[in-house]
Amino acid sequence: MKRHSRVGKEFNPETLALGLGYEPALSQGSLKPPAFLTSTFQFECAADGRSFFELAYGLRKPEAGEDPGLIYSRINNPNLQIFEDRIAAWDRTEKASTFASGMAAISTSLLALLQPGDVVISSAPIYGGTHFLFENILPRFGIRAIQVLGGDGCAERMRAVAHGAGPDAVRMLYVETPANPSNSLVDIAAVSALARELSAGRERQVITAVDNTFLGPVFQRPADFGADLVLYSATKFIGGHSDLIAGVVSGRADLMADVGVHRTILGTMANPHTGWLLLRSLETLSVRMRRQAKSAMVLARLLDEHPRVDDVRYPGMLVPGSKQHDIYSRQCTGPGSLITFDVQGGEEAAFKVLDTLEVARLAVSLGGTETLVEHPMRMTHADVPPELLNSFGIRGGTIRMSVGLEHLSDLRRDLRQALATI
Ligand SMILES: Cc1ncc(COP(=O)(O)O)c(C=O)c1O
Repeated sequence: MKRHSRVGKEFNPETLALGLGYEPALSQGSLKPPAFLTSTFQFECAADGRSFFELAYGLRKPEAGEDPGLIYSRINNPNLQIFEDRIAAWDRTEKASTFASGMAAISTSLLALLQPGDVVISSAPIYGGTHFLFENILPRFGIRAIQVLGGDGCAERMRAVAHGAGPDAVRMLYVETPANPSNSLVDIAAVSALARELSAGRERQVITAVDNTFLGPVFQRPADFGADLVLYSATKFIGGHSDLIAGVVSGRADLMADVGVHRTILGTMANPHTGWLLLRSLETLSVRMRRQAKSAMVLARLLDEHPRVDDVRYPGMLVPGSKQHDIYSRQCTGPGSLITFDVQGGEEAAFKVLDTLEVARLAVSLGGTETLVEHPMRMTHADVPPELLNSFGIRGGTIRMSVGLEHLSDLRRDLRQALATI
């Protein structure tokens, strides 16, 4: 299936997720792409092998319509390539690459695009693993990461920090929106505009990178707002069944070429079986995310009205007229299904609720078919100093919930019975 219909109309991503980039006639007519569980590919002739390697190692540019050719599953594999075509179509980007995990996607991209002396300015909070990469690993390569509070006014804070750091040193603006675990939103268009402003007259342009794990690609497409790179933990909604670990990056072809070479050499690609599972998952992504968001909206209201619950943070509950609501209305087409809330009584009460829930499972991760609950301060974000977490509104009583596909009445009853114990 091609990206456009015979009359030239582009198909929607949900339709492309069922057919783009796969030709049944090349696989015995198999309707679904088979799992290409092979480490290597046999060349038809030596000249093909030479030409495939010339392209893979960037020794020459492809000729118009030239197929890069299959070589070795660390370099390329049909299961990953078909998935990458489909996710790039969804993100409206030029190219995508699949990785062994979200962290493999993030760390490979940053190592590919940054060099000693570079500064990354990021929104905060960010996922705990990314925080660790920024604080403990990038500095060993001479790369400085500076975090500024996300939410309203993030781009202005980034501008101030960029001028302090020496704007020529800034190479990347990194944003996680909605942020894990605070659910605060960052204005991607404002950050991309800042990147263009800082790039003026410079040879090495400032890159805008967005972690789109919480809402994308169904409810948020950062490239539409000027982002150069879109990053995902595909372990979450894209995989969607809590049965795989994977990551994706999609973006501008020139940046993705560097990211692709680093993936090949660092060996951080996903394996073919994971690629096959991701293809299966992508077919139901839109249906799952929409249904999960519908249930989350009901549960967020229930929590908001509960006398023992404070500070429900959910993009579907933003106050009209507020700056966060303004960002949401321009940037997002749905609220997603991650809810962050506080229970009264601090950590002890939060642990009681987590231990009493019966339908919602106590586990980290998110975006799967089952509802998961966790305690950010003591679990996913345990490496972030508590005072810093407090400044993001993450406290002892804070619980993060990822709403799944269980029957809504079971989830509602479960939440009520657990909250009744505190
Ligand atoms: C927003 C976000 N980005 C990146 C990651 C890392 O992804 P992975 O666990 O697939 O390496 C996570 C994991 O929870 C996440 O929540």
